[in-house]
Amino acid sequence: MATKRFNRGVALVGAGMSNFGAFPGKTTRDLFVEAFKDMRASVDKGFDPKDIEECYFGNYSSSQFEGQCFTAPFIANAVGMNPKPAIRTENACASGGSAIRLGWMAIASGIADMVLVGGYEKETDQPTEKVTEILATASDNLYENVAGFTFPGLYAALATAYMDRYGATGETMMKVALQNHENGALNAKAQFGKRIGDFIKMKQKSAEKKGKPIPQWDDEMAFLRDPRANPVISWPMRLFDCSPVSDGAAALLLVAEDMAHNFTDKPVHLIGNGIASGVPMHDRTDLTTIEPAVLAGQTAYEMAGKSPKDIQVCEVHDCFTMTQVIATEDLGFFDPGAGWKALEEGRTARDGDRPINTSGGLKSKGHPVGASGVGQVIEIWKQLRGEAGERQLPGEPTLGLTHNLGGSGQVCVVNIFERR
Ligand code: COA
Repeated sequence: MATKRFNRGVALVGAGMSNFGAFPGKTTRDLFVEAFKDMRASVDKGFDPKDIEECYFGNYSSSQFEGQCFTAPFIANAVGMNPKPAIRTENACASGGSAIRLGWMAIASGIADMVLVGGYEKETDQPTEKVTEILATASDNLYENVAGFTFPGLYAALATAYMDRYGATGETMMKVALQNHENGALNAKAQFGKRIGDFIKMKQKSAEKKGKPIPQWDDEMAFLRDPRANPVISWPMRLFDCSPVSDGAAALLLVAEDMAHNFTDKPVHLIGNGIASGVPMHDRTDLTTIEPAVLAGQTAYEMAGKSPKDIQVCEVHDCFTMTQVIATEDLGFFDPGAGWKALEEGRTARDGDRPINTSGGLKSKGHPVGASGVGQVIEIWKQLRGEAGERQLPGEPTLGLTHNLGGSGQVCVVNIFERR
């Protein structure tokens, strides 16, 4: 893939999100207004929303989740953006990452100086069976969906292939969940912002309240191994290997680099962007890697003039736990087959040499699919500005990366951010 360089630098000067979770009675519009207000509050020197020139919004399927097929101008109107151009991008779970791509292109090309990028999804109004059906429409309708594949099913195939080739086990996946919930417990906006130990206490309290025998587990791993506490969803994946069904929204303010200091003295520069697409899962010859992620990563590294070893903080698309392990290999942090050992050695934990998903990742923070790729950037923004609170990484990281998958990995968007 030929390397392209920006004609004009792009900087992030504001980033915000709604809480992620289940919010009966709220619409995507309500959630996006919350995200927009949070983003607005994050712009150190303030800004006039009237100066925003373009809006790009990621949304997978408000049509199926909420019966609202056409969304961008409604969302734009909710935050006072009309009559500015407002365009929705749909690229399954990479819809948000794809909106960032368009926002970046608008500024890099000179079409606009100031762009609002957002993502939103409202999934929990539907029962899980219906959500599963809706998400499955992001698989191949001719060969996968009709054969009964669901998203947990598709990613279980990937996990099985990885385990078979490299020797990872179900315990590896449990350790991903353990690590991500450890991080998410420090994130007030996370849907399941709890450590596995907190889930244990909740189960025990609930049994006590109901007058039932109080379940006991020796430790967190014993809890995760227990099929009553952590049932199989799609073998070999269990409940705690799956990201949840979520509602949420996120918003970013991108501006031309030369204007960034009008908004903040601490801009975060978007220095690399890569996107690639690939074949459906049933047509792949290798299920232990996701080729679009490898290609999008290579493009972003080349554009940024950086390599995997330079990245100090990274949010990857852990829609399912083994996907996180594969992502760390696809991005070049570890050799093929070495990612699961690195995870088990604690190298991807907050105090490891390669911290991954300090926000809690999709597993703990939540996965409102159209918002997820934008939500990942919020964590990088906070970490690079030293504003991640209790989960702040030591040593002031200056280089961060986001990895956002769509469908069964048929698309991937990678962004690289730098604080200079
Ligand atoms: N991780 C941990 N706990 C979870 C959870 C998750 N992902 N999802 C739900 N729970 C908990 C709930 O809090 C609840 O706990 P309680 O009994 O103590 O109150 C319990 O599990 C049952 O919740 P419920 O909402 O009824 O679960 P469910 O069986 O309807 O859904 C999944 C569980 C795993 C099937 C669902 O979250 C799912 O489909 N996830 C994958 C979503 C997906 O495919 N996204 C796209 C990825 S590309």
